Amino acid sequence: MHSTEPTLPETPEPLLRVNGLTRAFGGRPVVDDVALQIAAGQVTCLLGPSGCGKSTTLRMIAGIESADAGQIWLDGALVQDGPAGLAPERRSIGLMFQDFALFPHLSVAQNVGFGLKGDKAVVASRVGSLLERVNLSGYGEKRPHQLSGGEQQRVALARALAPKPRVMLMDEPFSGLDNRLRDGIRDETIALLRAEGTAVLLVTHEPEEAMRVGDEIALMRAGRIVQQGAPYNVYNAPVDRAAAAFFSDINVIKGVSRGALTETPFGSFLTPGHADGAGVEIVIRPQHLKIDLDRGGRGPAPTPLEGTPARGTVVRSRYLGRESLVEFAMDFEGQHLTASVPGVFLPKPGTVLWLMMRRDRCFVFPG
Ligand SMILES: Nc1ncnc2c1ncn2[C@@H]1O[C@H](COP(=O)(O)OP(=O)(O)O)[C@@H](O)[C@H]1O
Ligand SMILES: [Mg+2]
Repeated sequence: MHSTEPTLPETPEPLLRVNGLTRAFGGRPVVDDVALQIAAGQVTCLLGPSGCGKSTTLRMIAGIESADAGQIWLDGALVQDGPAGLAPERRSIGLMFQDFALFPHLSVAQNVGFGLKGDKAVVASRVGSLLERVNLSGYGEKRPHQLSGGEQQRVALARALAPKPRVMLMDEPFSGLDNRLRDGIRDETIALLRAEGTAVLLVTHEPEEAMRVGDEIALMRAGRIVQQGAPYNVYNAPVDRAAAAFFSDINVIKGVSRGALTETPFGSFLTPGHADGAGVEIVIRPQHLKIDLDRGGRGPAPTPLEGTPARGTVVRSRYLGRESLVEFAMDFEGQHLTASVPGVFLPKPGTVLWLMMRRDRCFVFPG
């Protein structure tokens, strides 16, 4: 395959490796040249908006959807090469979906042991230890409808773990659970998979979920992975405006770069690498706007870190529990900006305040 690639013996072969994976439906590319690598015990989240091709990617890796082009290796073995591939049951994978797809007419124990072959007593003992591992000892004889959503989810996990897969593929498996239940079940599930040394690919459209569980985030858009890295890096060094906006609300200040500087109502920004006369967008998340009081028509003094303050009038304040959102109409061009502050800070509409932009928290993109 890649005989020209140098081999690096100190890097262990990842359990899942995907290269150039591509699929079109009706001539429309839905997955376009996707590459991924996941090591043992590592969790990668495939994150992106609805319809961007996440499930199709996961289904191709599982072998339940064929590929137009690309390769998939599982545990070092080539299982897919273009349209040719191994059947799903011959890949060492576990699958979990949002609808747990438990068999309603089978008991919990029968559901967990469904894919296991061999001696009855051996299967029974394996099922018992799986149920113990997901904290459902004593539930074996119950039917799925007698269980809560969280318990059903744990049965689905036990069933997926039964054949000892090296790679677990999860497609929004927690989105059917209500919020408070979800965090606990998700953390337990992921901790268990990590402890087993399973490589996990988790599909989600929720940035918070991806940041919470992922060692790596692969950010997907319109069939392509646009950025991949640790949550910290993807959040703090987005590749473009849309990548920044996927994780939170953003504020955008427009300007024009001249001599590697862009003048704005918040002072001048260094914009190296942007041609003279090129439009630039300076992007900042609401929590990185700093608010200060008006002192008889004047704001705080400019600083190197925060630049020049700009004045605005409060339009709306909302308390969201963890934070408060304050929306401003700025003096300059009446542009609206939103600042987020921790705790309760609810200035009345009409209040005049000053905003500053933390320079180390701004992203500069071509306009
Ligand atoms: N079997 C199929 N036939 C035709 N179009 C499909 C099929 N499966 C998925 N698609 C389309 O491919 C795009 C990506 O779908 P999907 O992979 O399910 O996205 P996601 O999981 O990110 O929401 C969507 O526009 C969807 O309608
Ligand atoms: Mg999907």
